[in-house]
Amino acid sequence: MLVNAMPGNTAFDSFDCRDSVRDCMSLEGTAEWAHVGLCKLSMTDAPALQQVDRTCVLLGSRKLSYFSGCDYFRLSSHPDVLRALREGTNRFGLNVAASRLTTGNHKLYLDLEKRLAEFFQTERAVLLSSGYAANIAVAQALSGTFSHVLLDERAHASLVDASEIFSCPIVRFRHRDPKQLADILQVIGKTAKPIILTDGMFAHDGSVAPVGAYLGLLPKDGVIVVDDAHAAGVLGANGRGTLEYLEISEQSRIIRTMTLSKAFGVYGGAILGSSTLQKRVLEKSRFYVGNTPMPLPLAAAALQALHILKTDRQLAARLSENVRYVKEELRQIRYPVEPTPSPIIPLLPETQREIGRLKRLFLAQRVFPPWIKYPGGPPLGYFRLALSSEHTKKQLDDFLRIGRGWWLER
Ligand SMILES: Cc1ncc(COP(=O)(O)O)c(C=O)c1O
Repeated sequence: MLVNAMPGNTAFDSFDCRDSVRDCMSLEGTAEWAHVGLCKLSMTDAPALQQVDRTCVLLGSRKLSYFSGCDYFRLSSHPDVLRALREGTNRFGLNVAASRLTTGNHKLYLDLEKRLAEFFQTERAVLLSSGYAANIAVAQALSGTFSHVLLDERAHASLVDASEIFSCPIVRFRHRDPKQLADILQVIGKTAKPIILTDGMFAHDGSVAPVGAYLGLLPKDGVIVVDDAHAAGVLGANGRGTLEYLEISEQSRIIRTMTLSKAFGVYGGAILGSSTLQKRVLEKSRFYVGNTPMPLPLAAAALQALHILKTDRQLAARLSENVRYVKEELRQIRYPVEPTPSPIIPLLPETQREIGRLKRLFLAQRVFPPWIKYPGGPPLGYFRLALSSEHTKKQLDDFLRIGRGWWLER
């Protein structure tokens, strides 16, 4: 669990970073050490962390740089976003306590949908209470209209769950492989009406789905759902995500879903598509119909986060400079990095021993070891670094020392 320290919370204001390398190493043998990166542990054993400032956490009493999570611009602790959250709470209260289709609709939701649709250059945006829910709601809305679901084998769990709702055969294709997709399309035949489900930017390594190649193969009645949870706000010249990054302007055969909990730093999700799709979601998605929408202060905070993403392009410039710097340095030591502007860098140790060594290297540099074991990821688990616009050059260099130490001395 990550507990955000609100500005003005003095609990850590006087925190003195006196922890030395020895202090970090003294974690060994403690419960905190056990929590950090032992692949024997299950996912439910994740450590409880506490945020100290925008790029550091406390683990026990140690202040460590934090390269985890998906808050790529640290908007979850941006003063203007937090102000909007507080003002939203004061003005509107917490919760509409009803479905939007009954008495729970609110101008804030309509405003946020309008602004999201404008930003992502789509006809309509439909808010859902999370990105996971957005994928489920798309599937409920379109259930029964396709002949086959074609699912990238490493698609996010929410797409896997969504795939089962379409009520048709599900065929998995090799990760980001248009060739195998072409073979499958040939087998299912010209009269098939498939829907392809894929992440836009994949969470485990920051690779990007070849959506243009998929579009080229797709029959005219087919549709692609691009889950842009990680790319929305991050990829593309204006942060509009995978389609902008890949320079794809086609809209009619692509549905996008997104979350407000990553680059936006808030919470909630949305479907981006046509007004026909919006109508279907409102009519047919049981999730949409039966769910209480996101709390109003979060909608106010999301509006502010969107405004910041749109107007403060320095954030994007800082993130892309951090990504460029780290990837360039890693290339120098021939460490394979994705040739995308994605802020995600995986370190993939192959043995338990290597995991332990890497963990020690992280702690020696006072960086929280971002070890994760996630469904669909490498069976041993891996270290997933997520760079942010707010990491300092010193923090990036600390990470680079870890990367070099591990990679060059394997
Ligand atoms: C690719 C992808 N899709 C969907 C989600 C779900 O988004 P949310 O956390 O808003 O439910 C996530 C979250 O981790 C994700 O990584």
